[in-house]
Amino acid sequence: SRSIDLAVIPGDGIGGEVVAEGLKVLAAALPQDVKLETSTYDLGAKRWHATGETLPDAELEALRRHDAILLGAVGDPSVPSGVLERGLLLRLRFAFEHYVNLRPARLQPGTDGPLAGRPDIDFLVVREGTEGPYAGNGGTLRTGTADEIATEVSLNTALGVERVVRDAYERAAARPRRKLTLVHKDNVLVHAGRLWKRIFEAVGAEYPQVTTDYLHVDAATIFFVTQPERFDVIVTDNLFGDILTDLAAAVTGGIGLAASGNINPAGAYPSMFEPVHGSAPDIAGQGKADPTATVLSVALLLHHLGYGEEAARVERAVTEDLAARGSAGPRTTEEIGDALAGRVSG
Ligand code: NAD
Ligand code: IPM
Ligand code: MN
Repeated sequence: SRSIDLAVIPGDGIGGEVVAEGLKVLAAALPQDVKLETSTYDLGAKRWHATGETLPDAELEALRRHDAILLGAVGDPSVPSGVLERGLLLRLRFAFEHYVNLRPARLQPGTDGPLAGRPDIDFLVVREGTEGPYAGNGGTLRTGTADEIATEVSLNTALGVERVVRDAYERAAARPRRKLTLVHKDNVLVHAGRLWKRIFEAVGAEYPQVTTDYLHVDAATIFFVTQPERFDVIVTDNLFGDILTDLAAAVTGGIGLAASGNINPAGAYPSMFEPVHGSAPDIAGQGKADPTATVLSVALLLHHLGYGEEAARVERAVTEDLAARGSAGPRTTEEIGDALAGRVSG
């Protein structure tokens, strides 16, 4: 019989609240014969305060043996900024070679926001997940003096760029519009920019059926708002992709709906699914967080593990729930999770 061995990292702030609802919907979506086993990992701010640990080697090794990971969010105002973000979240993305950070953006009927009611917006950001300015390359000199120098050097390897660009071409080739846009800033960041553009063009020669386009990242932000329908698949650097996908979320119904998958395409390591948003300390503990982003991340997880039909059921449940939202008043995190689980199983 079939089974899913899932690692769960609720993390900080609203992380635990939204993950609980994601798991509820996952359980409702799975066929009877699939055994879902979950192991919860106590990682995040509480653990760090108690032990000083972010992600010990033994737990990294244990996580590696699961089929996939579901993560809520990490980061807390009581922990120095960067400690958990780098020591836990980025450590996982780097160690498990999550070089494809998938972030779909779809404007669903029934949602509001600056672009509500516009023609179909349905694009996919393929964000590089293991390199760029995130690599941790840099440091400070003469720290704390008036002459301090801080560097944060972007790492771009031919191997790292090619593997994500190739993945993006594959995804573009499989979609009806077959269009791939490279977003970078090669007019200023010439060293990395040239590498990305050269590889983008070279790999593109193998995909003559895919139409290509290039935008500087600043101009891309304009088009996200004024002409989002021009995008199909976007491939971009780690930091540009981070910023662009919060913007993409804001123009497609809000950050509470934006899902992501950190994918290791070869399957050598478990892929990790998480909402695009963070731990939202401003609303944590109040039952106000929208769990939909996590539920849609569960759909990406199902899809990744080969449960395409179940993934589609979860996505349909979200679409129906969003369409019905206008009439109802505000709901709690749990009420939204219950409604989605009900639609999935009913
Ligand atoms: P954030 O995404 O946590 O919050 C930004 C705004 O969006 C806040 O007003 C918040 O209330 C709102 N929001 C976020 N998720 C929501 C949801 N599900 N429903 C309704 N509203 C929601 O970003 P931030 O404030 O910049 O970061 C807070 C902490 O989270 C920081 O420590 C940051 O490093 C961390 N962070 C973690 C992740 C992650 O774990 N993947 C992602 C982003 C930020
Ligand atoms: C995200 C977050 C992370 C990122 C941080 C918390 C490391 O903002 O998942 O978008 O920048 O990738
Ligand atoms: Mn982000």
